[in-house]
Amino acid sequence: MGEVFALRNVSYTYPTGQEALLDISMKVMEGEILGIVGPNGAGKSTLLMLLDALIPPTSGEIFFRGIRLNDKLRDRKFMYEFRKKVSLVFQDPDVQLFSSTVRKDIAFGPEHLGLNPAELERRIDETLKVFRIEHLAQRHPYNLSYGEKRKAAIATVYPIGSDVILLDEPTSNLDLRSRREVIGLMKEFEDEGKTVVVSSHDLDLILEVASRVYVLNRRIIAEGDPWSVLSDEELLERNDMEVPKLIEIKKLKEELMNLAHAIQR
Ligand SMILES: Nc1ncnc2c1ncn2[C@@H]1O[C@H](COP(=O)(O)OP(=O)(O)O)[C@@H](O)[C@H]1O
Ligand SMILES: [Mg+2]
Repeated sequence: MGEVFALRNVSYTYPTGQEALLDISMKVMEGEILGIVGPNGAGKSTLLMLLDALIPPTSGEIFFRGIRLNDKLRDRKFMYEFRKKVSLVFQDPDVQLFSSTVRKDIAFGPEHLGLNPAELERRIDETLKVFRIEHLAQRHPYNLSYGEKRKAAIATVYPIGSDVILLDEPTSNLDLRSRREVIGLMKEFEDEGKTVVVSSHDLDLILEVASRVYVLNRRIIAEGDPWSVLSDEELLERNDMEVPKLIEIKKLKEELMNLAHAIQR
């Protein structure tokens, strides 16, 4: 399988002098759900903004399907095509939602694709249905619950039809039910063959959805299969992260099994 993104020795320093990312080398493969975990301030949001070509790296190189992105940020024709292929859902849904109704927010992306009006309407209706938010279509985003805002924010990228979706902390501040729904949406993206990069400090989320994970704390600390990387308690503690519940449960089960074996003997 090919690479969607390749980063080579990428660093990013904000204009304030704040160093956010140091010497990041990583890959995003076609069709995978890739998790990026790390404590607050680790640089997760900055990394997603680099992948979305909203900011250029201070040093190092970023490639999108083999094309060097560094030189392309001001290339309007390239960026128009790039924006169709890659969509970022911001951490804060209030950044994503700015129209007077949810329907208008969902229409905003595909309106720029030059579709005929019937196709545009079809895509909007389909999105409302897939995300089960038909009842929110005429509501003002400002008046939605946080969970509803989140779903609406993720929904805005669906009708664009991008095959690469970048999700920044999609489940933070969600109740259990909304969290389950957002996980369902990610699996939906996966079933459609899309590439998903999801940042989170919710390690249980990553265990549930991701096929690979990077642990980020300014630098890349670890990379690999989520169940092995995220069961390294020492690594998590050193980087201010808690052991995920799913790992604790797995360990408890193993201990119980061992106990049962010992009793049988
Ligand atoms: N606009 C900005 N200007 C200056 N520093 C910033 C800005 N945004 C983020 N930072 C800093 O960059 C670092 C990484 O932030 P961020 O990427 O938001 O981390 P995370 O998403 O993992 O919490 C932090 O130290 C943060 O304070
Ligand atoms: Mg963030």
